[in-house]
Amino acid sequence: MMLTQTPMVPDPYYVVRLQQENRDTVTIELAPTSGMNPLRFEPGQFNMLYTWGKGEIPISLSGDAQYNRTLVHTIRAVGAISQTMTRFEIGDVLGLRGPFGKAWPIEALDSKDIVLVAGGIGLAPLRPVIYHLLANRKKYGLVHVLYGARSPKDLLFETELRQWRGRFDMNVDITVDHSMGDWYGNVGVVTKLIDSAHFDASETVALICGPEIMMRFATKSLQKRGVPFEQMYVSLERNMKCGIGLCGHCQLGPTFICRDGPVFRFDQIQTWLNRREL
Ligand SMILES: Cc1cc2nc3c(=O)[nH]c(=O)nc-3n(C[C@H](O)[C@H](O)[C@H](O)COP(=O)(O)OP(=O)(O)OC[C@H]3O[C@@H](n4cnc5c(N)ncnc54)[C@H](O)[C@@H]3O)c2cc1C
Ligand code: FES
Repeated sequence: MMLTQTPMVPDPYYVVRLQQENRDTVTIELAPTSGMNPLRFEPGQFNMLYTWGKGEIPISLSGDAQYNRTLVHTIRAVGAISQTMTRFEIGDVLGLRGPFGKAWPIEALDSKDIVLVAGGIGLAPLRPVIYHLLANRKKYGLVHVLYGARSPKDLLFETELRQWRGRFDMNVDITVDHSMGDWYGNVGVVTKLIDSAHFDASETVALICGPEIMMRFATKSLQKRGVPFEQMYVSLERNMKCGIGLCGHCQLGPTFICRDGPVFRFDQIQTWLNRREL
């Protein structure tokens, strides 16, 4: 729920919980300083997070959409603003606008086999979908979570990954680019996991989130397996300023990613996917 009337003015939230996921990624849980509840969002949406003196960046919601007392974000440090945000401490206050953007197509998943393909930080925007699928498990066919990380040390949500892998009603397959230590799992690109997953292609919906190159290869692999492009959805990233379709910073071809995305049906965006900052 928006606390302010204007979508350009951030509301103050404070950090109530922190979880260091790996060397450069932190999950933060935020509560409005006003104490107002409930907080609503749909899986796949993002908030604009603002830190005083640094600036504002779009970050996806990575928590459970059914839990409406706090908002959860998972942030990887890549530059000045995200680095500052991964160094927050409990009690620190930041600005938040949102939620913005189009969500994953939860209705399109009903009674389908579902393949979630995540690369790196891309698992964060898909985690709310996983929570939804598990809470409504009977409504869906086979569920695959195929996740690729740089190395075993870069895995996100490791405790949950272990729990999910222990379930009989969901297949969680993980691969890393570079093996190290006592890793005995898959090594190689995430598309290899698509090749070996068992699903009914014509009745499958795939949700894909990660680096663009990974998403391009993943869509190709899924297509080879027989999944039509119309049944694949990707979440795209571009630099954003307003987050609400006003400034044009996030334009991609005829669309604004903040307003028309970040989630797109693949066949509707594939022409533009190879090009940056159009
Ligand atoms: C809709 C949407 C949802 C997003 N969700 C998340 C999320 O859940 N968690 C998260 O950590 N990030 C997410 N991002 C990416 C995040 O917004 C950027 O990492 C952030 O804007 C970088 O800002 P910065 O000032 O820290 O770095 P900048 O100074 O902008 O960039 C520093 C360096 O990192 C590179 N860089 C910038 N963005 C990325 C990126 N996305 N991936 C790899 N390299 C990059 C730049 O090219 C530059 O070299 C999302 C982006 C969008 C558009
Ligand atoms: S960020 Fe301004 S139009 Fe998308």
